[in-house]
Amino acid sequence: MATETHKAEPDHRVGDYFTEAAETFDTFYDGKRSAFMRWVDRKFRSDVFVRFDWVFEEIGDAKGKSIIDIGCGSGPYSVEAARRGAARVLGLDMAEGMLDLARRRAAAFKVDSVCEFTLGAFPQAAPDEEFDHAIVTGVMDYVADAPAFIRTVCKMVRNSAILSMPSIHWFRTPVRRVRYKLKSCPVYFFRREDIRKWFDDAGFANTVIKKVPGAGQDYVAIGRKK
Ligand SMILES: C[S@@+](CC[C@H](N)C(=O)[O-])C[C@H]1O[C@@H](n2cnc3c(N)ncnc32)[C@H](O)[C@@H]1O
Repeated sequence: MATETHKAEPDHRVGDYFTEAAETFDTFYDGKRSAFMRWVDRKFRSDVFVRFDWVFEEIGDAKGKSIIDIGCGSGPYSVEAARRGAARVLGLDMAEGMLDLARRRAAAFKVDSVCEFTLGAFPQAAPDEEFDHAIVTGVMDYVADAPAFIRTVCKMVRNSAILSMPSIHWFRTPVRRVRYKLKSCPVYFFRREDIRKWFDDAGFANTVIKKVPGAGQDYVAIGRKK
């Protein structure tokens, strides 16, 4: 169970940024963008689609499982997990605007009875509950204390946790840093050896760290409890 206390305050710049960005962000998954933006997404943001497949490959048969989707955003993973038969899905996010979208998505797909969406910053707002799997995609980019985050995730999962973590790229990393600085939102990047150490220290076994191929800049780290 998540009993660790966290002294660091949540970084509200992240919540503010995502509340503002919510509507634009949501069009990404639903193919509602212009033809040009869809081409840009396919070419440069393919990570998102690859890691979506990897997450559900890891979860396997979702029927009857409980899943926490940390930093659930507009809820694409939460809703997909529920559509695949999960018994309980908790989506947690620090941006209320994103949660509104997630609730609407769950209602549109008629899985709102299975999905609960809660406002809060992880790990400070970690629920006192265990889950079969944790999904953490596109979130670690904004987390200052990654080891504490990973430790708390490890305590609350029975089976496995799947986290995407941006790598360091000689060109794309500095560009992204500048872009986010202009938006007043912090952004973080990680080295494979640090990720492995943090997963080991947290208590995960058989951690697999894969790099998204092609244009991909993300590591996807899968920590297993057994
Ligand atoms: C890029 S979006 C990704 C959303 C979703 N996981 C996906 O892959 O589509 C990042 C989301 O993480 C949320 N977030 C960032 N840090 C968080 C934290 N420490 N606790 C909870 N939510 C967080 C943001 O508010 C935002 O909605």
